[in-house]
This record gives sequence, C-alpha cells and structure tokens, in this order.
Amino acid sequence: MTEWQKSGWRAKPRIQMPDYLDKDKLNAVEAQLSYYPPLVFGGEARTLKEKLAAASRGEAFLLQGGDCAESFQQFDASSIRDTFKVMLQMAMVLTYGAKVPVVKVGRMAGQFAKPRSAPTETVNGVELPSYRGDIINDLDFTPEARIPNPEKMLQAYTQSAATLNLLRAFSQGGYADMRQVHAWTLGFTEAENASRYRDMANRIQDSLDFMAAAGVNSDNTHDLQAVDFYVSHEALLLEYEEALCRVDSTTGANIAGSGHMVWIGDRTRQPDGAHVEFCSGIENPIGLKCGPTTTAEDLKVLINKLNPENEEGRLTLIARFGAGKVADHLPRLIQTVKEEGANVLWTCDAMHGNTIKSESGYKTRPFDNVMREVSEFFEIHNAEGTVPGGVHFEMTGLDVTECTGGAVAVKDEDLSDRYHTACDPRLNASQSLELAFLVAEELAKRG
Ligand code: PEP
Ligand code: CO
Repeated sequence: MTEWQKSGWRAKPRIQMPDYLDKDKLNAVEAQLSYYPPLVFGGEARTLKEKLAAASRGEAFLLQGGDCAESFQQFDASSIRDTFKVMLQMAMVLTYGAKVPVVKVGRMAGQFAKPRSAPTETVNGVELPSYRGDIINDLDFTPEARIPNPEKMLQAYTQSAATLNLLRAFSQGGYADMRQVHAWTLGFTEAENASRYRDMANRIQDSLDFMAAAGVNSDNTHDLQAVDFYVSHEALLLEYEEALCRVDSTTGANIAGSGHMVWIGDRTRQPDGAHVEFCSGIENPIGLKCGPTTTAEDLKVLINKLNPENEEGRLTLIARFGAGKVADHLPRLIQTVKEEGANVLWTCDAMHGNTIKSESGYKTRPFDNVMREVSEFFEIHNAEGTVPGGVHFEMTGLDVTECTGGAVAVKDEDLSDRYHTACDPRLNASQSLELAFLVAEELAKRG
C-alpha cells in the first residue's frame, strides 16, 4: 500500500466541490494558507479523541452543535457568545441527566462549506449555480456572486481564527463560571410551558447550593470556572483542508489544522471518493454522517478505511435518519458495527432528516420531530444494549424563528419574522435548551 499523502484525494472522484476557473489564483491561495499557522494543534485533537472514547463507553456524552453554515455577514462577538452560552447551558442540563462529563464541540470556526442537493437553483425562471457556503461563493442571487472565488478561503481562515480566539477566551476567562451558567438556565424554566423542567432545574440548583455549602465553588475550584470547548466542521472543501494539514512535530502524525474534529457528510461518504481518502490519513477524530441510504456494505468498508486500528474515539457515527425512520435503519447499522467488532461513538443528528418546506415556503424543521428522533435514537440503543453517546444539532443562541414548535411556540406564520440562516433552519436558544432537558430525561434512563 502506498503511503497516505495529503494531496492523495486529488486522484479520487470528487463531488460537491467547486470547479475554480482561475487556477493561478487558486494555487496562490493554497500556497498562502499552507504557510499560515494551523488553527488547532495535534495535542488538542488527541485529547478530544480520548474524551470521545470515553463517550463511546458511556463515561461521557458528546454535545455537538452550532450553525448549519457560518456566515461572513453575520459575524460578530455577540452571536458567538450567545451560541457558546446556550451550549454551556445545554451541557449543564445534560451533565445533570447523564451524571457524566459532557464533551462540548461547536459547529464553529470553520463550518463554511455546504453540500447541496442540486447544482443549480432556479428563481422566477432564472437558473444559477447553487450557493455553496461563504468559503466558496456568495448567497446573492446574481451570476457574479455565484462564481466560486478561491480568495474566500482566506477570509474563512481569518474568521475562524478570530472565532476560535474568542471561544478560547470565553472558555478560560471566567465567562463559563458555573454559577452564571445556571442563572441563565433558570431564565428558560420560568417560561410558560416549561414547568415540566422546573423540577430538574431546582435539583440542579440544590446540587450547586450543596457544593457551595461544602466549600466547593468557583472561587477556589478552577474546574468550575473554565470549560473545555472544541470546534468542528464538515471537511468538504479539500483544497482548504489540505492547505491547513500539518505534520505534528511531537508525533509525526498528519493533523487537520482547520479544526479539532472534522466530519464527512452524508453526500460525500463514497468509500472510494476524495473525502474519505483525505480523512483516512489525518489523526483527528472523524465524524461520519449515516443516513437512510447508508448500506451495511459501505459502512463496513468505511469503518475499516477510516479506523483501521479500531482506535476508540477515532470514529463518530452521526445517525441522521428522520423521525419515524430511525427504527428502519439504526438497528441494521448497529448490527454491522457489532459484527465488525468496531469501536465507534454513536451520536444522533436530529436535524438533517427532518427538514421540510413549510406552507409559507420556508425550509423548516418541526421541533416535535427533532425531539422524536432523539427519543427513537435512545430507545433503540437501550434495546440493543449499545451506547447512545451524543447529540448533534444545528442551533444558535440568537432568538431566531427558523424551526417551528417548542415551549415558546414558533408557528408557520412566524417563520418570516427572524429567519436568518444562510442555509438550514436552526433551533433558537429556547428550543435548544428545551431539547437539552429532553435529552437529560433520556440520559437519566440510560442508567
Ligand atoms: C450538515 O451537517 O450541515 C449536513 C449537510 O449534513 P448531512 O451531510 O448529514 O446532510
Ligand atoms: Co445543515
């Protein structure tokens, strides 16, 4: 077998990637990025892998969430802070349910490139290439905006670096102090219709009070003030990924320097394709989306290609089937994993199988279906004796109206009020927290 090369993906069939017209500009951007510092370091990716290994054994739980697509236009400190804050709130609620540490991984600081279901988009009889995320082209519906521009990779790098910098500051600088996080959580449980969760919130408060009384508090315990927060994105734009790939000076391993964890999307997981080839050679933890069309045969090949050493924490299988369909697919894939004796972390993306077009024409996701898919995921793992080890959401800390339903109900006719996503509809802060309480209830049953 020839040794893996970071450019080896170029010899494989690629899909969902742009054809850049200006090759000189592309080469110049790649050269420039390859000199820039990596955004993350090998040691961090390895630590995350250990934590994901613990999650695969039921000794931790993964919370992965953030934007469907980060945007150049909607880039400011407050949206990063609000999303970070909601993830911490969710993590606190989940920790209470799971009684194990929650591993927090944002879809942030690199989540720009988007696979699309159709190569073109038609509006009022005009057909243009699809928008593929701000790292590739622009959302505006004009022919110029839709031309892929390699220079956008540089802006994505800069924005990712600034985002990660702020996240690192929030994580370590006292913002994540547990006392504050809980005060925020109480805000939600005071909402009408959230009574179901009030009891759990009170018990969390009791536990904190007890710890404080026992002298354990954030003034004297650094762990209560600081959190570990990691970033992840879909490794879709391989020119960008290759340019940020680095050899780790301490171990000699190849590390994707673009984020701690990367995943392969449901549309680009062809076992002989470019995306699988690239991800097979990096040492970071890897996610693999598994949808209704994932076959047992493909899954076997993918497990062996992506995790030949059967390392714990290396491979996260992100199930995304849609409410009502989990029972049709998850058991057969769990069976395959059992037959292979493969070490994987199972998580549930309850967003991508539940996208519908609302009557008002907006792409949305009914909150009840998101909740239902999560419950089905837990139920099946509990029945199979396997570990439901995490959840994956598209969410934001902002008060958007993109998904319908929830305790503070968003209705079909409300979608136009604050529909800001550049791509798929996200849960808003209140819906995210409500979901965390539901997952905590499921986790408490996991035993
Ligand atoms: C995504 O996570 O934004 C995505 C496109 O998911 P999937 O590949 O599962 O459709
Ligand atoms: Co999405």
